[in-house]
Amino acid sequence: MRETVYVLGGGQTRFGELWGKSLADLIREAVDAAIANTGILPTDIDMVVIGNMVGGETAEQAHLGTFASSLLPHHPPALRVEAACASGGLAIHTACAFLESDKAETILVIGAEKLTDVATDIVTSALMHAGDAEKDGPAGLTFPSIFALTAAAYMHEYGLKREDLSLVSACSHMAAVRNPYAQFRKEIPAATISRSPLVADPLRLLDCSPVSDGAAAVILSTKRESSVRIAASQLANESLSLADRESLTSFVSTRTAFTSAMKEANWNKNDIDCIELHDCFSIASLIHLEDCGFADEGRAIELFRRNDTDANGSLPVNPSGGLKACGHPIGATGVKQVLDCFKQLTAQAPNQVQNATRVMAHNLGGVGATCTVHLLESI
Ligand code: COA
Repeated sequence: MRETVYVLGGGQTRFGELWGKSLADLIREAVDAAIANTGILPTDIDMVVIGNMVGGETAEQAHLGTFASSLLPHHPPALRVEAACASGGLAIHTACAFLESDKAETILVIGAEKLTDVATDIVTSALMHAGDAEKDGPAGLTFPSIFALTAAAYMHEYGLKREDLSLVSACSHMAAVRNPYAQFRKEIPAATISRSPLVADPLRLLDCSPVSDGAAAVILSTKRESSVRIAASQLANESLSLADRESLTSFVSTRTAFTSAMKEANWNKNDIDCIELHDCFSIASLIHLEDCGFADEGRAIELFRRNDTDANGSLPVNPSGGLKACGHPIGATGVKQVLDCFKQLTAQAPNQVQNATRVMAHNLGGVGATCTVHLLESI
């Protein structure tokens, strides 16, 4: 980073089926919590960046930059960014770029999505706009079925067993029991996951992140200091359609964003004390861990078998509960991940990783078409 970007803190709504709350209510709640938790004055904020994917389609509210700005008394400049499920990570990355170029000194970054006021089939087709409309849509693909293709290819290539795949979701569900903001706060044994209803073969209901509402907000600053800074902020992309990829079992965007982030922070992977990982579907976690080099190809499941990924393991993955159990209100997820990393570094996490000083947030858009990686550290 060219400038020291401090994370002052933030706040979030609970994630879940929040029928009593509109998209506007969710944004207001997260912003109020972020301002209260950081103790800054609203007028200290000189810019707002909000990540959101489908506000116009599922909540009849677009123009969200201006909406968020109008919550502050002085209406600072604001913009909305969109990168499908990585909209939140892109909002953080965009804010970092503005801070690094001195266009702003203190930025309110928000991620928000309201999905449950419409039926699942409408949400599914709105989310599918993140795929390639000429190649993927006409083939009848949905996100569960696209990730099912990657799961089938992975199982074929590496011999992964169905019952092993269930260990990934079980790990997230176990972690979320302690997280008051999580959508599903119950332990679910791997055997139950393997028996849950089939969604898109081989993925079952409990392999999938759910349809969720929620919002999160963090405040980043180059002017005000805190004990947490962003050590790297990286964005990488690759072809929109899975049909144009050389491999179904690896995402180039994750590889690129992770490698660039390591270089930017001057870390190596063993420096990372815990990861908030984009587990939109159970199979995705295995692919990401291999793409980041935490396991050889086809071997990431061993980390889950050995419980290395638990909060007290050697490589804690999603101690918050991840997307799988916390819920995945699309635009909110990447911002919430950074907030969870901040909590780990300030000993406020519900599943605290002992002595965490260097942590990572990994946010994916589409089937690996966009990836953001943020590295945070205690100073
Ligand atoms: N994990 C755990 N429980 C879930 C769940 C999930 N992913 N999805 C639904 N449930 C629960 C519900 O709470 C409900 O429980 P209840 O009967 O006790 O109230 C039950 O399962 C049935 O839920 P329902 O809403 O009827 O499920 P659905 O069939 O409409 O949707 C999916 C299930 C998997 C299709 C949907 O969650 C989905 O599409 N997920 C993926 C979203 C996505 O693509 N995101 C983008 C990622 S790239």
